[in-house]
Amino acid sequence: LTDTYTLANGVEIPVVGFGTWQTPDGDVAYQSTLDALAAGYRHIDTAAIYGNEESIGRAIKDANIARQDLFVTSKLWNTEHTYDKAKQALEDSLARLQLDYLDLYLIHWPNPLQFRHDWEKANAETWRAMEEAYAAGKIRAIGISNFQPHHFEALLKTAKVVPMVNQLYVNPADLEEDAVAFNNAHNTLTEAYSPLGTGSLLAVPEIEAIAAKYNKSTAQVTLRWSLQHGFLPLPKSTHKERIIANTELFDFELAPEDVAVLDALSGSDPAKQHTDADKTQF
Ligand code: A2P
Repeated sequence: LTDTYTLANGVEIPVVGFGTWQTPDGDVAYQSTLDALAAGYRHIDTAAIYGNEESIGRAIKDANIARQDLFVTSKLWNTEHTYDKAKQALEDSLARLQLDYLDLYLIHWPNPLQFRHDWEKANAETWRAMEEAYAAGKIRAIGISNFQPHHFEALLKTAKVVPMVNQLYVNPADLEEDAVAFNNAHNTLTEAYSPLGTGSLLAVPEIEAIAAKYNKSTAQVTLRWSLQHGFLPLPKSTHKERIIANTELFDFELAPEDVAVLDALSGSDPAKQHTDADKTQF
């Protein structure tokens, strides 16, 4: 878990992050974050809308790990896509997390309902606020999430800083080939949220067969697949033994033919429908 990718601006980012989408606020978020930090995770991914930043902040504080050894990401929610609101949203996330700076801050969605008539301008303004916070040292890297190429391209018209990260719903059942290719062409790291398909990939027979071959779990095979594609997986769990198991990814390597079997599952995931609906809005 000490392995890192290097972002376009030279910042090192641990190659596996602890996902916290759908982790309830309060004791569950607090304890699972403590468990993750004890298991060796140094990268925590949260968002304002997850509603668990305060509990995660308490866990980070109580774990007493040197701040420079941690990588903390949060995301700006859909209601905050103006210059002023974006600046305030960052301050609010920092306060809830009890941090002086974030390692990474992302625009959560490109086309929120609230700004649908004017999403391009709203993103440009939001990005300008994020660029300023980045220049001021409040964020070590800035990025986007759920951006399809046309959203990304629109942002580049006014961006001074190219997003260092684009966090996507990507897993063997949804390869997101166009978005990943666009990211790669811009030296933008692809982070993979729901790398287990929100759990929908855990009992897929093709993955079970590969898992048996390597004496690993389906979760571990799926996360290894993500790493071998050069993605940064963000597995979510609230169970200590799973949190630990999801880090045991560095003592095996999938053969190309097994990667190909997983790639061939693309298009089979019912859990991806929400992102597809979003993609077709424009
Ligand atoms: P739980 O949080 O109850 O442990 P994703 O990261 O794709 O969003 O998937 C998260 C889902 O997968 C959650 O339901 C989580 O359950 C479950 N999960 C995460 N890791 C494992 C694992 N190693 N084995 C089984 N289920 C897992």
